[in-house]
Amino acid sequence: MEAAVTPAARLDLAGRHIVLGLSGGIACYKAADFTRELVKAGATVQVVMTQAAEAFITPVTLQALSNRAVYTSQWDAREPNAMAHINLTREADAVVIAPASADFIAKLAQGRADDLLSLLCLARPIERCALLVAPAMNREMWAHPATQRNCAQLRLDGAVILGPGSGEQACGETGDGRMLEPAELLAELVAHFQPKALQGKQVLISAGPTFEPIDPVRGLTNRSSGKMGFAIARAAAEAGAAVTLVAGPVPLATPRGVRRIDVGTAQQMFDAVMAAAPAQDVFVATAAVADWRPLALAERKIKKGAGRSVPALELTENPDILAAVARLAQPPYCVGFAAESHDLLEHARDKLARKGVPLIVANIGPATFGQDDNALTLVDAAGQRELPRADKLTLARQLVAEIAARLR
Ligand code: C5P
Repeated sequence: MEAAVTPAARLDLAGRHIVLGLSGGIACYKAADFTRELVKAGATVQVVMTQAAEAFITPVTLQALSNRAVYTSQWDAREPNAMAHINLTREADAVVIAPASADFIAKLAQGRADDLLSLLCLARPIERCALLVAPAMNREMWAHPATQRNCAQLRLDGAVILGPGSGEQACGETGDGRMLEPAELLAELVAHFQPKALQGKQVLISAGPTFEPIDPVRGLTNRSSGKMGFAIARAAAEAGAAVTLVAGPVPLATPRGVRRIDVGTAQQMFDAVMAAAPAQDVFVATAAVADWRPLALAERKIKKGAGRSVPALELTENPDILAAVARLAQPPYCVGFAAESHDLLEHARDKLARKGVPLIVANIGPATFGQDDNALTLVDAAGQRELPRADKLTLARQLVAEIAARLR
């Protein structure tokens, strides 16, 4: 699956200092990769390991990847004041425990502090240094009421539980309890630091092209990649919204926490959007919906051959999804996109009126379709604002901030 935005190209954690704590579990091998992802995203990483973690992976590995000496003991003599448990979190933006074993979660829930990692979790400045916990254990251990009770307690105490994922486990069983993959942990941490401008809001997004079948093997479609819409879905979810993404046929990975509904034709996209729209606060129509579809669908492949004439394709117009949502009695805040090849502003202004929406986002179609970056012009009744060329996730976050400001 193609990522909506290449993670390597982004420095979302630049300037962030992360204390990465490892407790004992086979998922320690993933912590090595996670350390690399954090460093690549621009963070500085201080690794702290429990004794049990050292049975699974060596501090040398994590030192090399984090470029910092690893801490393993509260009696570490390197600290002049002998207070590693205090010093380590004072500059930290977050403590991430990955993997978090069932035993370590139990310790955290009880506020025990008999090793460096649990000690520093307890001693961290709770108001400004978040605690994120990525459980990793066998499915029975995860499902056990004691573990569930401990996680509920951690949430009450303000910690964030990341995952766990589900699937095949190192023990050979299958179920819940796998630690999230390094890329998923990174996405969660990046999202954690984004402003929660859409907290509690419902956001609906249409994305990608549609595919209008001609016969069982052919159809009408366009070059929309869906990347802009998927980036907006991710940005809205990062901002705290409950996001529903109605996607045409694109091979992009679903952003974390986003509910995705896959559709093919414009009519299917219309049905899915209209069913969801009444409950929404915001609708962002990024989809490049086919304007027309074949009037009739041939049940069998249309054959060519000697003596056969070139088939005449009769088309009929597709419903306008955005205009239909904007016409609801109590419409969500509607944002349309205009992908043009020329006269961008003129077309955007025309669309504003024709669709009856408060905001149109204009971009040059041929310059954005399939690309990882874009430039946007926001057009509304009051005027226009340029969002200069940047990667699509950066633009999506700016657009989400704009939309949130307009909702207030
Ligand atoms: O109609 P036009 O293609 O000029 O407008 C583009 C905007 O309208 C985009 O936001 C697009 O998602 C939306 N649209 C739609 N349904 C259509 C055609 C366009 O929702 N049938």
